[in-house]
Amino acid sequence: MNVLVTAGPTREAIDPVRFVSNRSSGKMGYAIAAAARRAGHTVCLISGPVALPAPRGVEVVRVTTAAEMLAAVQRRVRSCDLLVMAAAVADWRPKQPARRKLKKQDGPPRITWEPTPDILQTVAQRKTARQIFCGFAAETHDLAREAQRKLRAKNLDAIAANDVARADRGFEADHNALTIFFADGCVRQVGWTTKARAARVLLRELAAYADRKKSENIFEK
Ligand code: CTP
Repeated sequence: MNVLVTAGPTREAIDPVRFVSNRSSGKMGYAIAAAARRAGHTVCLISGPVALPAPRGVEVVRVTTAAEMLAAVQRRVRSCDLLVMAAAVADWRPKQPARRKLKKQDGPPRITWEPTPDILQTVAQRKTARQIFCGFAAETHDLAREAQRKLRAKNLDAIAANDVARADRGFEADHNALTIFFADGCVRQVGWTTKARAARVLLRELAAYADRKKSENIFEK
């Protein structure tokens, strides 16, 4: 199988030395890429700026901004069987980053923001029946409701929701706990565990979903 994984944050420039970003460390996405490779798949990992080594045997494409990540995903998505978007893409970017460093003496800058492209929503519009797309939902509250909203709005097969308000899981931590919502209504819990194990379980659950989807397609024909 061809597996495409995204990981880490994106950075959106304010001026040549400043950016907006988020606390994503990339650990969850890198763990998914490593687990998929160990399971025998061909894996491409599109990574925002993180301090992690490339997983062995995985092609790594490094990007900085949401626009670059979108372009990198678009170049590879058609040939993938499974896409897992674990990246924490910045939702907003300064409309016109300053060309020169903003000076303190000029006071707090007034920044006009614009939305970044929603990568998953954009590529999921052209998802084929054989492809499986899985998103991640980073939530601090209303986890189930928000994750299910994103699952439908972005036309996904699955979304793995994690709580990013707690220090022992989610952003930056070595551990995570996931609730995986599937398009066929199934819900699977992955209790608090290492990101390496959470990645393995997620891939196993996605494979089980792919089997369910295939058998449904047979009945529909
Ligand atoms: N995502 C994306 N492009 C964006 C924002 C998010 O592809 N511009 C993807 C993420 O990689 C993730 C999923 O969409 O797989 C959900 O991301 P999340 O940040 O949880 O949700 P948002 O859609 O940004 O919504 P909100 O900020 O309101 O929670």
